[in-house]
Amino acid sequence: MAPGSKIDLIERIAASFSPSAPIDSRVYAGRESQIADVLNACVQRGQHVVIFGERGAGKTSLANTIGQMLRTRFTMPACGTINCDQTTTFASLWRSIFSEIALSRNAPISRNQGGTDRAQGTLAQLLPEEVTPHSVRTILQDRGKFLIIIDEVDRITDRSTTTLLADTIKSLSDHAVDTTLVLVGVAESVDTLIAEHESVQRALIQVHMPRMSQAEIDRIIDNGLAAVGMTIEPGARRRIYKLSQGLPHYAHLLGMHAALAAAAQDRTLIDIEDTQRALRKALKQAQQSISDDYERAVTDAGETLYRWVLLACALANTDEHGYFTAGEVVAPMSLLMKRDCQAVLFARHLNAFCEDRHGPALLRTPIAHGYKYKFRNAAMQPYVLMKGLEAGIVAPELT
Ligand SMILES: Nc1ncnc2c1ncn2[C@@H]1O[C@H](COP(=O)(O)OP(=O)(O)OP(=O)(O)O)[C@@H](O)[C@H]1O
Ligand SMILES: [Mg+2]
Repeated sequence: MAPGSKIDLIERIAASFSPSAPIDSRVYAGRESQIADVLNACVQRGQHVVIFGERGAGKTSLANTIGQMLRTRFTMPACGTINCDQTTTFASLWRSIFSEIALSRNAPISRNQGGTDRAQGTLAQLLPEEVTPHSVRTILQDRGKFLIIIDEVDRITDRSTTTLLADTIKSLSDHAVDTTLVLVGVAESVDTLIAEHESVQRALIQVHMPRMSQAEIDRIIDNGLAAVGMTIEPGARRRIYKLSQGLPHYAHLLGMHAALAAAAQDRTLIDIEDTQRALRKALKQAQQSISDDYERAVTDAGETLYRWVLLACALANTDEHGYFTAGEVVAPMSLLMKRDCQAVLFARHLNAFCEDRHGPALLRTPIAHGYKYKFRNAAMQPYVLMKGLEAGIVAPELT
């Protein structure tokens, strides 16, 4: 391949995978059932939606896609999704939302009319000094159909903001206001919202984003490769699914590096060796925070078992929310250690993983007879697996 066209191919491969940024409907793969659930809720007056799931499961991408699908039917803030952070309060949230909607037209403010919309005013100027669920509802009432997507609600630290948000959902629903709120966050944020207001449950449709199925991960890889005229052997594609553990970020990252590895050797068919090279690249390119968290979790003076126990946790069967019990760690631990291991051998380690000095790498929740555990950051689980594979302490067929 001529050097010029090789650079061109590398650029196109990098452009057709998106490991780090949420995507929109143009390259969206799968998730038909979640899309249908959200759309269904959006078109029902008085219904609101919360999209929840593990970190990196694809929540923002789903919300972006829904926003694009409904853009012509609803008025949305000009910036699209509104993101929360630790400084968000109820008043600052609604000021940001309303300052993106033109007062004169009840439409998103237009950024390319020389700022005319802003000069003529936005809905934000209707807000009183003290912003309440009542004042928000009054502004939205009878003004048209609005779709307001609020992302990262779990980052709100101010408890009264969550309470007021739950009250707003209830108020909009009770008064049949033609506005749909779509809230996006990790699972715990739903519990907080509902804890604020039991009766909000009826007005809130909960859409869980599970990890992706093999067919969905395959689609991400096939779409990305088709755009650059490449293909992949079935075994190599299955490998990427196993390594990604159903998390789309890793599917993009591994798909991209496997394609780059094949392109470097002037091949258009990706094989299993390319996925091995991709794994090494992916580990090098992992977010610094994940590799720091990993080292913190497994490092303990004079004690090497932490590394093994964390790997066994990453291999354990989980429920659809990523939880596993100590009993589920027994089988992978026995396979790794090549001898029968009972839960007492690593109970101490599991508990330590839930403490600050080891991360905490895991979160635990009490159940009938003990605890269930999950990775605090879902993205760490594939990282732990890939570390095990790279070090040769776990065989590919165990993953
Ligand atoms: N349906 C999809 N098809 C293709 N790629 C996807 C899909 N959903 C998500 N992705 C990819 O996965 C990565 C993670 O997605 P996204 O940012 O939407 O997840 P998230 O759940 O919002 O993450 P976080 O919890 O960190 O906010 C993104 O880089 C995006 O490109
Ligand atoms: Mg997100």
